[in-house]
Amino acid sequence: MGLRRPSCPRPLLAVCALLSLVTAALLGHVLLNSLTLVPQELHGFFQAPEEMFRAPQQGASSLRPQAHARAAPTQCDVPPNRRFDCAPDKAITREQCEARGCCYAPVGRPRGSQMGPPWCFFPPSYPSYKLGNLTTTDTGYTASLTRAAPTFFPKDIMTLRLDVLVETESRLHFTIKDPANRRYEVPLETPRVHSRAPSTLYSVDFSQDPFGVVVRRKLDGRVLLDTTVAPLFFADQFLQLSTSLPSQYITGLAEHLGPLLLNTNWTKITLWNRDIAPTPGVNLYGSHPFYLVLEDGGLAHGVFLLNSNALDVVLQPSPALSWRSTGGILDVYVFLGPEPKSVVQQYLDVVGRPFMPPYWGLGFHLCRWGYSSTAVTRQVVEKMTRAGFPLDVQWNDLDYMDARRDFTFNKDGFGDFPAMVRDLHQGGRRYVMIVDPAISSSGPPGSYRPYDEGLRRGVFITNETGQPLIGKVWPGPTAFPDFTNPEALDWWQDMVAEFHAQVPFDGMWIDMNEPSNFVKGSVDGCPDSDLENPPYVPGVVGGTLRAATICASSRQFLSTHYDLHNMYGLTEALASHRALVKARGTRPFVISRSTFAGHGQYAGHWTGDVWSSWEQLSSSVPETLLFNLLGVPLVGADVCGFLGNTTEELCVRWTQLGAFYPFMRNHNDLHSLPQEPYRFSEQAQRAMRTALGLRYALLPHLYTLFLRAHARGDTVARPLFLEFPEDPRTWTVDRQLLWGEALLITPVLEAGKVEVTGYFPSGTWYDLQAVPVAALGSLPSPPPAPVRSAIHSEGQWVSLPAPLDTINVHLRAGHIIPLQGPALTTAESRKQPMALAVALTPRGEARGELFWDDGESLGVLERGAYTQVVFQARNNTIVNQLVHVSGEGAGLQLRKVTVLGVASAPQQVLSNGVPVLDFTYSPDTQTLDIPVSLTMGQQFLISWS
Ligand SMILES: *[C@@H]1O[C@H](CO)[C@@H](O)[C@H](O)[C@H]1NC(C)=O
Ligand SMILES: *[C@@H]1O[C@H](CO)[C@@H](O)[C@H](O)[C@H]1NC(C)=O
Ligand SMILES: *[C@@H]1O[C@H](CO)[C@@H](O)[C@H](O)[C@H]1NC(C)=O
Ligand SMILES: *[C@@H]1O[C@H](CO)[C@@H](O)[C@H](O)[C@H]1NC(C)=O
Ligand SMILES: *[C@@H]1O[C@H](CO)[C@@H](O)[C@H](O)[C@H]1NC(C)=O
Repeated sequence: MGLRRPSCPRPLLAVCALLSLVTAALLGHVLLNSLTLVPQELHGFFQAPEEMFRAPQQGASSLRPQAHARAAPTQCDVPPNRRFDCAPDKAITREQCEARGCCYAPVGRPRGSQMGPPWCFFPPSYPSYKLGNLTTTDTGYTASLTRAAPTFFPKDIMTLRLDVLVETESRLHFTIKDPANRRYEVPLETPRVHSRAPSTLYSVDFSQDPFGVVVRRKLDGRVLLDTTVAPLFFADQFLQLSTSLPSQYITGLAEHLGPLLLNTNWTKITLWNRDIAPTPGVNLYGSHPFYLVLEDGGLAHGVFLLNSNALDVVLQPSPALSWRSTGGILDVYVFLGPEPKSVVQQYLDVVGRPFMPPYWGLGFHLCRWGYSSTAVTRQVVEKMTRAGFPLDVQWNDLDYMDARRDFTFNKDGFGDFPAMVRDLHQGGRRYVMIVDPAISSSGPPGSYRPYDEGLRRGVFITNETGQPLIGKVWPGPTAFPDFTNPEALDWWQDMVAEFHAQVPFDGMWIDMNEPSNFVKGSVDGCPDSDLENPPYVPGVVGGTLRAATICASSRQFLSTHYDLHNMYGLTEALASHRALVKARGTRPFVISRSTFAGHGQYAGHWTGDVWSSWEQLSSSVPETLLFNLLGVPLVGADVCGFLGNTTEELCVRWTQLGAFYPFMRNHNDLHSLPQEPYRFSEQAQRAMRTALGLRYALLPHLYTLFLRAHARGDTVARPLFLEFPEDPRTWTVDRQLLWGEALLITPVLEAGKVEVTGYFPSGTWYDLQAVPVAALGSLPSPPPAPVRSAIHSEGQWVSLPAPLDTINVHLRAGHIIPLQGPALTTAESRKQPMALAVALTPRGEARGELFWDDGESLGVLERGAYTQVVFQARNNTIVNQLVHVSGEGAGLQLRKVTVLGVASAPQQVLSNGVPVLDFTYSPDTQTLDIPVSLTMGQQFLISWS
C-alpha cells in the first residue's frame, strides 16, 4: 500500500539519509510523469547573473532608491494598505518609531478587525539586505545577502546565504540561512534534487538592493511572489519575509477556526500548537505554514514555509502576506499548479502523502467521556445494535485508565477490559482508546513501568538542570516523552506492544499532544532566558510561549522545545503509527489532536473540543476541507458536538453532515447530556439511520478516494473550487463539500430549516435518492424518499427541500460510483452485493473507479494484492476495464446498475449479451434500473437500446 514502513522515521534524518535519497528520486519521477502544462520558452532563465538584476515590474519596489542606513524617513506617503509594520514587537511612540528609522502616521483600523494599517511603518528606503555574488549552480543559484546596518531586533545575522533550487517544472525552492553558524532546521525528510529542472512554469528574478525574490508565472507574466515589498529581517529570534499576493483569495495556514478563505483585511494568524476549545482568531492545535492562492482565471499557486518555530502570518489588503518567525531558517517552496488540485499534489510531494487507513476506520465511531465501565461500554454497543445503527469502532476516553495513567486499566470498572475488546472483535467491531503523551511521574520507583523504563532509557524532555521536566496533566505530575529521540520511539513501541499484549486494541487516539500542560511551563516554572522571553512573541493566547504547555527552553534530542514545539503531535503520531505496525502487523489507525505539515502520512485528525452549537457545525465544513488541502484527509469534527448539550435537531443535522466527514465519530463530554443516536425520538433515529446507511453504502467509493489520496495526493473531501476553479462563484463556497469529483453534499447548517440553498456549478446534478442502495443491504430500509428530478445548472444557487430526514447529495453527470449494501459493521457490509450509480452527461458518457483490497494489510500495492476496476459508459453501454485483479475484490458481486439520465425508455437491455427482462425505467426521473448478476473482477458489458 505504499505505506512507508516507518522503521525510518522522518524526524531522524541522519538515520535515514539513504532512504531519503531514494524517496527523492521517486518523487521526482512521479512529478515528471504528471506534468500537465507545456511551459513557454525559457525567458532569459539562463542569462548571465548580472542580467538577472532586473527591477521588479510590479508593486512599490520600482520606486526604491538605494538603501542607506538609518536615513531619516523622507518617503512616508505609503498608502495605508501597503504599509508594513515597523513595530511588530510592541506598541511604540512616534519618537521611538522615528528612532527606528520608520514613518509614523496614526490611522483608524477597519471596523470589525483587531488589526489595521500599522501606525509605525517602513519607508521604502528602510535598509534591508543587499544581494551579491550571484552565481549559477547545478540546481539553480546561490548568492550572499549582506546587511550594512543592524535592525531594532537583537542579534541580526549580517551576512546570509541564499540558495535557489529550480527543483521541478512546477516547484521552486529557496533557502536563506546563516552561512557561518548552523541554525535549527526542520527535521522533515523532503525531496532532494540534484539537477536543475530543464523547463519550468516560472521565472525567477532577483532584486539586488534591497534584496528580493520575484517569481512569475511564465504563462501570463503574473507575479506570484515578490519579497521586495518590505525589508527582510533575519535576526537570531526574529525572521520576517513579506510578499505581495496576486489576489485576495487565499486559504490554508491551519489550524484556525473560520471560513475556508482567509480575510486579507488585516488579519494575523498565529501558529503555535495549543490546547484550546476551537475559537476564532486564536492559535489552535495544529500548525501548517502553507497557503494556496486562487488567481484570476482559475489558476492557483501555493507557498510553503518549512519552519516549525512559533509563527505569525499577517495578511493585509494590498494584498500582501508577511511571515514572522521566531527562529530557524527561511526555507520556502513555491508551487505553480497551475490548477489548484496540482498545487495540493505538489505540496504533498514535499511533505508526504496521506497514509491509507484500514477500511473499518471509515465506518462509524462512537465515544464519550463517561463510559465509566466495560458494562456501560458494552451496553452502548448493544443498544446501538438493537436500534439498528451501524457501529464499527467503539472507543473509550480516560475512564478506562487506572489513575488516568497511560498503558494501564482500572481493575474496578474495567476488570474485564481485555475480554470486552475481544468480544467487540467477535462481533466484527474494533476498539480504540485515548492515549496521552504525558507520563505520570509521581509514583514510587517500581510502581509504574512506563515511567521507570522511560527514565532508565532517557526518553523524557529535560529542563535546565538536565532532569525530566515535570508538568501536570490528567494523572497529576507528568514527564513528557521526547519523540525526536530514537530511543523514545523504541520505548513507546515497547509500551504500546506490552499493553497490546494485554488489551488487543486496534487503534490509538492521541490527545493532549500540543503538548498540553495544566501548569505554565513546569511545576518548577521556567528559567528566565531568551528562549522563554523572545524579543518577539507571536500572538499566542496567554501572551507567552509557555502558556498551557511546557517550557520553550526545555531540551529535546534534536533541539530545544522552542524549535520543536509545533512538531510534538507529528512526532507522537509517527511514533504511534510505527508502534501499531509493530504491535499489530496491519495498517495502523491513529487519530491525533495536534498536527504539523506532513501529519497525514501517519495519522488523521479530529477538530478537538468543539461545542454542540450550530456555529461549530458550520465551521466543521471549512475545517474538514482545509485539512484535506493539507494532506490530512482523515478528518472530522465530533458529531453532535463535544462540549455542552446538543439538541435533537442539531444532533440529527450533525449526523447527516458527519456521514460525509471522511472520519466520523460521535463523541461527547463527561458533563453533557447523552447523545448516542438511540437516545433520540423515533423520527430523529430514522433520520440518523438513513444518514449512516448512506455512508455505509458509499464506503467503497470513499475507500477508493482514500487510495487516490494515498497514491496520488488527491483530496477526499474537497472544496468546490478544486473542481471548478474557473468559476469564481465556487471560490467562497464553504458550506458544501464534494467527495472526490462526483458527489456534492449540501447539508443543513441552521436551526429550524427545512430548505437549504446550495451552489451548483454548471452541469447536470442527479439526486442520489434515485439510487435505491439501502435495499441491497442487511439493514431495515427506510421508505423510499421522493426522488427529485436532476438539476441542470448553468452555475447557479439552487434552493432544495431539506426536511429533517434528508441530506441533499447530488451525483455529478459524467461519473460512476460503486455502492454496497449497508450493514451494522464494515465486516458485514463488505460481504453485501454492490451496485453502480451511473450519471450520464447529455452526451451519454460517464466514468468511475473502484479500488478494493482486504482492507487492512500492509503493503498491498507493493504485493499487488488488490483489485482496481475502471467503469466506463458511452453509446448506451457500460463496460468495466480490469486494471488489476487480485484478492477479495475479484469476487465482488454486482447486482444492480442504476443509470441516470436515460432520455427514453429502452426496448431492450442486455447484460453480457443476455437479455435482462426485469429492468425498469422511470420517465419522470429518466432513470433506468438494471438488475444484473455480474462479478466485478470479470469483464462485463451492459447495453440498452
Ligand atoms: C476592509 O475594512 C474596511 C474598513 O472597515 C472596509 O472599508 C473595507 O471595505 C474592507 N475591505 C474588504 C475587502 O473587506
Ligand atoms: C563576494 O565574494 C567576495 C569574495 O568571497 C567577498 O569579498 C565579497 O564581500 C562578496 N560580496 C558580497 C556582496 O557579498
Ligand atoms: C528540573 O526538574 C527536576 C525534576 O525532574 C527538578 O527537581 C528540578 O528542580 C528542575 N530544575 C529546574 C531548574 O527547574
Ligand atoms: C446540560 O443539561 C443539564 C441537564 O438539563 C444541565 O444540568 C446542564 O447545566 C446543561 N449544560 C449546559 C452546558 O448547558
Ligand atoms: C454505438 O452503438 C451502435 C449500436 O450498438 C453502433 O452501431 C454504433 O457504431 C456505436 N457508435 C459508436 C460511436 O461507437
